[in-house]
Amino acid sequence: MARSFLIHSDPEALAEGAANHVVRAAGGAIEDHGCFRWVLAGGKTPRHLYTLLASAAFRSRIAWEHVHVFWGDERHVPPDHPDSNYRMARETLLAPLAIPDHHVYRIPAELPDAQAAADQYEATIREAFGLSPPAIPCFDLVLLGMGQDGHTASLFPGSPALQETRRLVLAPWVEHLRAYRITLTPPAFNHAKHILFLVAGADKALTLQAVFNGPYRPDRFPCQLIRPLNGQVTWLVDQAAASCL
Ligand code: 6PG
Repeated sequence: MARSFLIHSDPEALAEGAANHVVRAAGGAIEDHGCFRWVLAGGKTPRHLYTLLASAAFRSRIAWEHVHVFWGDERHVPPDHPDSNYRMARETLLAPLAIPDHHVYRIPAELPDAQAAADQYEATIREAFGLSPPAIPCFDLVLLGMGQDGHTASLFPGSPALQETRRLVLAPWVEHLRAYRITLTPPAFNHAKHILFLVAGADKALTLQAVFNGPYRPDRFPCQLIRPLNGQVTWLVDQAAASCL
């Protein structure tokens, strides 16, 4: 695994740096195999990136007709819920760019049974890649954030999902949220060609320091699990998040 770490002055510069990474990854994937299979992150940080990519400054730099979007995780809510990661991406990226529905692989988090949603999403991913178990798909780019507790996607500290080695999607119960989440698993992430972490804000500084300079404790800091076998991990952070490094 190759790892790089880039510090940007503020969240705006971080979003611009990330947008340039997405442009490069998309161009390379489309040239190589005719499509760009991109896993979106949830939370607040990617919002500025998505808006920027849909803006006049960037929208013409990607061949959006060849872009297929997936999600790394989703809250167990309907797609129009304020907490939905899909809703945020639809409002900032998918609708403004008119990404066709058949290129949008949404997690069916409206299903009452979260594990059924996870199973259905796994089948969707496998069908999109034309892969049967035990093969694991290789996403061209995976966008991830990091929580203050060191979680990424919906892989939270102490979760049984951290030990998964075979399935692509799980629906762990998250006790402190009193809710189910649906999330890709470490093997699904670690087969990606390129992982791009986006981390901003002083509230992440101590965690980032522990993740980078502390011992390898993935059960406590799940984002340490993200080490793609044959891929590249790039951390884009702002100065506030990097202030303890
Ligand atoms: C989610 C995300 C989650 C997020 C981190 C950081 O569904 O919330 O997948 O892993 O990336 O919690 O969130 P912020 O970007 O809001 O700080």
